[in-house]
Amino acid sequence: NQNQFCDATNIYGNSGCNVPSSVSSKILINGGTVVNAHHKEVADVYIEDGIIVAVQPNIKVGDDIKVIDATGKFVMPGGIDPHTHLAMEFMGSETIDDFLSGQTAALAGGTTMHIDFVIPVNGSLSAGYEAYIEKATRSCMDYGFHMAITKWNETVSEEMEIMVNEKGMNSFKFFLAYKGSFMVNDELLMEGLKKCKSLGALAMVHAENGDAVFEGQKRMIELGITGPEGHALSRPPVLEGEATARAIRLISFVNTPLYVVHVMSIDAMEEIARARKSGQRVVGEPVVSGLLLNDSVLWDPDFHFAARYVMSPPIRTPGHGTALQAALAMGLLQLVGTDHCTFNSTQKALGIDDFRKIPNGVNGMEERMHLVWDTMVVSGQISVTDYVRITSTECNTCWVGSDADIIILNPNSSFEISSKSHHYRTDTNVYEGWRGKGKVEVTIAGGRVVWENDELKVIPGAGKYIEMPPFSYLFDGIDKADAKYLSSLRAPVKRSTT
Ligand code: URP
Ligand code: ZN
Ligand code: ZN
Ligand code: ZN
Repeated sequence: NQNQFCDATNIYGNSGCNVPSSVSSKILINGGTVVNAHHKEVADVYIEDGIIVAVQPNIKVGDDIKVIDATGKFVMPGGIDPHTHLAMEFMGSETIDDFLSGQTAALAGGTTMHIDFVIPVNGSLSAGYEAYIEKATRSCMDYGFHMAITKWNETVSEEMEIMVNEKGMNSFKFFLAYKGSFMVNDELLMEGLKKCKSLGALAMVHAENGDAVFEGQKRMIELGITGPEGHALSRPPVLEGEATARAIRLISFVNTPLYVVHVMSIDAMEEIARARKSGQRVVGEPVVSGLLLNDSVLWDPDFHFAARYVMSPPIRTPGHGTALQAALAMGLLQLVGTDHCTFNSTQKALGIDDFRKIPNGVNGMEERMHLVWDTMVVSGQISVTDYVRITSTECNTCWVGSDADIIILNPNSSFEISSKSHHYRTDTNVYEGWRGKGKVEVTIAGGRVVWENDELKVIPGAGKYIEMPPFSYLFDGIDKADAKYLSSLRAPVKRSTT
């Protein structure tokens, strides 16, 4: 593939690989429509040393400055992908895209920051954190971490404090599925939720009932269904709905906010919508695959083709994706991730005789901005400002205050997706052959142009780890609700002692 990065040691060098065209960090973007989550206007944008210094019409600058003409184009914040798995050890394999290849691809697609999930090492959060900092040393774009909680004891509880107070993490994920590996039971979930609440950290769930999935898998194998279609059949929407509802009820009991990752079904979406309507602090994240794909591919007679689409929760029957799009448009779901988790054909083939062994996951980091634009904005389902909110700024309000990374999207240009031209390491692409309107022509990350004229100019090691503070807006007023609850308990019950 076309990964065009070079070593940090020769960024100013003579190695013949692509280097930053100008070390000058002054950029003027002329005449575009500048969009944020609430507003758009035609204006120029002037960037100096990675900071947006001015947004106004007719900015005048000297000759030493790189000028990019954005007339007729949209100038927007770079995308933030809230859900990725780079270089993750999972299901007997390790995801094929590491921090550098995944991020390089993301930058080519207009995403300038992502939040990856740290997996503890033998249950140790500190060891997991160290391992992921190591994995991320060659990062070429900004990144943050969520942390998975896979077992419970006093050490884990103390390490959660360290992660939040010293390591810049403000979210913890609980897998209610993957029995025998990552799955946690309700007792652990309750402990975790209480701890999250005390730390001001956002609890996240992978919502599928893992015990029932285990049962569903046995049922399929007994029926002789061993191919990729067995994956979808073994874990139907009802199991996602159940786990989503359970998590929502438990966070209501504990009184702490919840983020539901990869909402794939109407069943889960409706639980989230109902909870939000009743005032619960629940955020729902659909992912690109769930919005756009449907499960027919899992029945393809070619195992290798079908296996590409195996992820959890599974890609659903067609009605689910369109309902999730509508829910996103109406604000019932809040932001779009990818759950980028790639395995190549050889890795996927581990499950050729048994769908339970197919490593779960699909690509998306490079395609998200294009596919969401084409599916949601071009179709008229959402506005350009909504686009900025669901692909970028909503993520900021949940977690981060990132710096001013920018993309320029040309609405009149088109994109086409193929594994022949994508920038991942993986050899397949679940959106192979997709075409659409709207193309990210320029990506500016950390004040540098990293993608322009279909060329990448990334610097391994230039990406920064972004620390995320606890107690986001989702925690505002939680203490008041607690006080109200406690005072309601104090209503005295007078009982005679005789
Ligand atoms: O299939 C998936 N989703 N793989 C990544 C791990 C997860 O559950 O998020
Ligand atoms: Zn998950
Ligand atoms: Zn995931
Ligand atoms: Zn940045």
